[in-house]
Amino acid sequence: MTDATSLLRLAIVGCGAISRMHLNAVEANRDRVRITAAVDLSRERAEAVAAETGAVAYGSLDEALAAGGFDAVAILLPPAHHERAACAALAAGKHVLLEKPMALDLDACERILTAARVASRVLMVAENAQYWPEVVTAKRLIDEGAIGEVLTARASSFATLMIAASFYEGENPWRFQKGSAGGGVALDIGSHWIRPLRMFMGEIDEVVAILDRPLAQMEGESLARALLRFRSGRSASFEVMLLDGMLGMDAFFRVVGTRGEIVIDTDMGGRVQLFNDQHFGESVGGDGLGYMESYAPQLRDFAAACLDGTPLAAGPEMAIGELRAALAMYRSAESRRWEKVW
Ligand SMILES: NC(=O)c1ccc[n+]([C@@H]2O[C@H](COP(=O)([O-])OP(=O)(O)OC[C@H]3O[C@@H](n4cnc5c(N)ncnc54)[C@H](O)[C@@H]3O)[C@@H](O)[C@H]2O)c1
Repeated sequence: MTDATSLLRLAIVGCGAISRMHLNAVEANRDRVRITAAVDLSRERAEAVAAETGAVAYGSLDEALAAGGFDAVAILLPPAHHERAACAALAAGKHVLLEKPMALDLDACERILTAARVASRVLMVAENAQYWPEVVTAKRLIDEGAIGEVLTARASSFATLMIAASFYEGENPWRFQKGSAGGGVALDIGSHWIRPLRMFMGEIDEVVAILDRPLAQMEGESLARALLRFRSGRSASFEVMLLDGMLGMDAFFRVVGTRGEIVIDTDMGGRVQLFNDQHFGESVGGDGLGYMESYAPQLRDFAAACLDGTPLAAGPEMAIGELRAALAMYRSAESRRWEKVW
């Protein structure tokens, strides 16, 4: 399926905001991956990516699939298009790297998983928090026993339109429309905070949540506050907010154990602080890479799965957990009760 030099030939499907991170990741993995097709309804965007990478530009995935010349697709489309694009690519025998959320509802997720099984191709959901360097460091420290047994955690993401502007461009971006986004910040930004909590504390059993809409132009929730109870019986808190103003800073994650605490601070440059009997808050995050450095290892894992058959750090089924947690928060906000995630 790959060319003579064992490079994965990749089609970028959707040349919008997140494509920049994927293009950077391809550059960092140029020994493994080459972009040979660029697809976007906007011919201009497809051609810009094609000009940068030497790929061929297409106006639709169907057109690109008919022409061929690639082994895998990176589907970077708004979530409402994920199912159709993923199933079409898998049916055409392509490996699929699919941006999160996998789809807008659980039935659609199951159909995508079935399509991958039938096609015997790699399906990876691009939950890049799995590869977020500070999260990986924190997970390693936890596994090494640096803070003892994990007792509780707090995950917090307060974002502002002023900083994340490229994701909210245009008159009425899809993220502001509930039908296109499937919800608000709990489902969108929130997945990158829920995945690390699951890595640190195991599977979530149930949630109770309050939602609010401080950002008037967004139909879905722009503030979600939730308590999460894990199957272990332990609990964590989760809060995610999007506003149109300047905000202060707080830790992204605090993980408290029987012997200490790990703090991942909000510095996008990345810092992991360890508090235990040997450390008092020194940065143990290694080289301070930060969130933006999660996309290159993510692509490397995908390429290895496609080229070498190695298992992914987390299979696509794992990504259903973030969607389920957000959907349970939506039910809880309505029922005002604890809601099961699974
Ligand atoms: N992992 C992360 O950190 C992260 C961050 C941002 C976005 N995302 C995900 O990436 C995906 C895309 O988000 P974005 O912010 O880049 O959106 P975007 O709106 O900036 O870009 C989407 C692009 O897809 C094109 N498009 C829409 N429908 C199409 C179709 N049917 N065929 C071909 N092209 C089509 C649009 O013209 C646009 O260029 C979403 O699933 C989002 O959740 C992930």
